[in-house]
Amino acid sequence: MKENGTTRRDFLKLMAAGGTVAAAGGFMSRTMAFAETPGKEDFGQCRSVKIRCISEVGWIDGQKLLKDMGASGGPKANQWRVNWDPKNSGGCCNLIEVETLEGKKHKFLLDTGWNNKYMEKVYKREGIDRMLKNKEIEFLYISHEHFDHFFGLETTLKYNPDIKIIIPSTFYDEGYHFLEGAEFMKAKARNRIPHRGELVKYEPAKVYKLYPGCASVTFDLPIVVRVRGEQSLFFNVKDKGLVCVTGCCHQSVPTYVDFAQKKLAGGDNLYALYGGLHIAPVGPLNAEGEQVVKEMAKYNFKKLACNHCTGVSAVQKMVELGYPVVKGTARYGSTSNLYLGNGDEIVFG
Ligand SMILES: [Fe+2]
Ligand SMILES: [Fe+2]
Repeated sequence: MKENGTTRRDFLKLMAAGGTVAAAGGFMSRTMAFAETPGKEDFGQCRSVKIRCISEVGWIDGQKLLKDMGASGGPKANQWRVNWDPKNSGGCCNLIEVETLEGKKHKFLLDTGWNNKYMEKVYKREGIDRMLKNKEIEFLYISHEHFDHFFGLETTLKYNPDIKIIIPSTFYDEGYHFLEGAEFMKAKARNRIPHRGELVKYEPAKVYKLYPGCASVTFDLPIVVRVRGEQSLFFNVKDKGLVCVTGCCHQSVPTYVDFAQKKLAGGDNLYALYGGLHIAPVGPLNAEGEQVVKEMAKYNFKKLACNHCTGVSAVQKMVELGYPVVKGTARYGSTSNLYLGNGDEIVFG
């Protein structure tokens, strides 16, 4: 069956392959080349990092999500012009708290979810509305421009329009318009509150230090439904090792983790991996996804807390292979206790 020039089989294959789209419509290589830099970047150490999963449920029904994408042009459609079903939207958002070696604590948000009504509910449940209002949350870090991580911007700005926002410099014009206040009727994406605070853009392939022991790297790649680039976090936790924290990991697990090993001080001692890994985002694990999971063994992570677009079938495989998977409570809409879900918290350090 053809869906706007792309067969459904290709589409599903693409979604499972990290959702990356080459400009010509083919597949990105799983490993991206970064310019060789002499030595390894030392971004210091922190005492601990605490992550509270505000919501990892990006969408309710993966097959419905694929159908909506297919009906609006398939994987190469522009996400701002896809006829998304608001009833199928949730949002991805995490609260991160870094403790420095001196014991100072810093909070920031990783992503701002999708459906504003839903985000309002989860912000209230987790006290994020209050933390934003009283400026406890220092900035909003957007991993990438995807609908489920960014379209819920209004809910954050409602409580603090002056908040500093950090985005990958690879954002499209629509993303900038959205920050200024815009409505995309077809996509049902609306932000009525212009952002008034500082906007920081992180360029690809550079290591940006957010705090001692906390760094960000932007990976430049084309991603499904015309998004470009994803930035991910690294924490160097004293006496534990390196903690990798992602939004969706569209750059692929090997690209992300190999970067840490090759380019970051502390990267030879990997401790934990948290977040969406985009292995089986909408259903069963295919052969390629299974291979990615198997190859993760070589990193020897001590803790794996992978939710969101990792997919429950991929987490099941990790459990089967005896990986140290951190379980959750399957509350507030998270469908399995196999992974850390909505309202669950983990401390590394
Ligand atoms: Fe996502
Ligand atoms: Fe994504």
